[in-house]
Amino acid sequence: MSDRILKVKYTCQHPSCVVFCKKGELLMSEAELAHCSSFFEDEKMIRSPKHACRLGYSQPFEVAEIEVAELSDLNGVPDERDVVRDPIANLMAEHNMVLEKAQKVEEMLTARDLDGLWTATNDLDNALHLHSGIKEEEVLFPMLKDLVPFGEGLIICINEDHREIASLVHSFREALRDDTINDKVIGSALVALRSHVRKEDNEFFAFVKRFVTDDMNEPIMTALEQAEKNFVPKEAGERMPDEEKAAERHKFHSKTLAAKEIALDTCCH
Ligand SMILES: [Fe+2]
Ligand SMILES: [Fe+2]
Repeated sequence: MSDRILKVKYTCQHPSCVVFCKKGELLMSEAELAHCSSFFEDEKMIRSPKHACRLGYSQPFEVAEIEVAELSDLNGVPDERDVVRDPIANLMAEHNMVLEKAQKVEEMLTARDLDGLWTATNDLDNALHLHSGIKEEEVLFPMLKDLVPFGEGLIICINEDHREIASLVHSFREALRDDTINDKVIGSALVALRSHVRKEDNEFFAFVKRFVTDDMNEPIMTALEQAEKNFVPKEAGERMPDEEKAAERHKFHSKTLAAKEIALDTCCH
């Protein structure tokens, strides 16, 4: 089979994609196209090839047009991914990935699946650690602090959200060890996370991006990519009771019960 290079025009079918790759053109070989089509029965659909989606996932792409690439296509137009290297757009796009992890937690919550929740909250925790704790707090924010008016105060406010969400997820996971699904705690974590993402997308990033100059884009993008490369996700581990913490909780409950009994004994009613 001859393996010609094709120019494929596509539209990404990801429902809430905010990145600039929603519509675009790909250069791919016939064999590559056949492979990407093999995931769908609908011949118009393909699974996006590696790196086509700037979020790094395989997305369903609807093919609008296919033609054989001209020589000028092969030498010519630079890849959009190389042109659009905007760190703020990347971090905003990554919010979709974080929200997908949150969605998975909700699915497990509905299914009351303890082990599923253990894994899904670990995935969410890893995503938050890399996205918020490292990429935002360690890479981007130090570069913005003195650049953006009131930068330090804004960053403190954003970091407080990060702490709150991480601590709620952590508490929820601790209770899971004892087979307890604490709906209130995880509910608060998910509400806080969604509101934090809205705050960053609509207010914080919308404001700070005005101060990030074009020549800052590349160094920040490189640092973000390096951070991602170096990141080692935490394993979920076994969902076992933590004896020490369980003993502490037991002691606390006993004291509370004792205090209630004393209160009843001494109550004048
Ligand atoms: Fe974020
Ligand atoms: Fe954040």
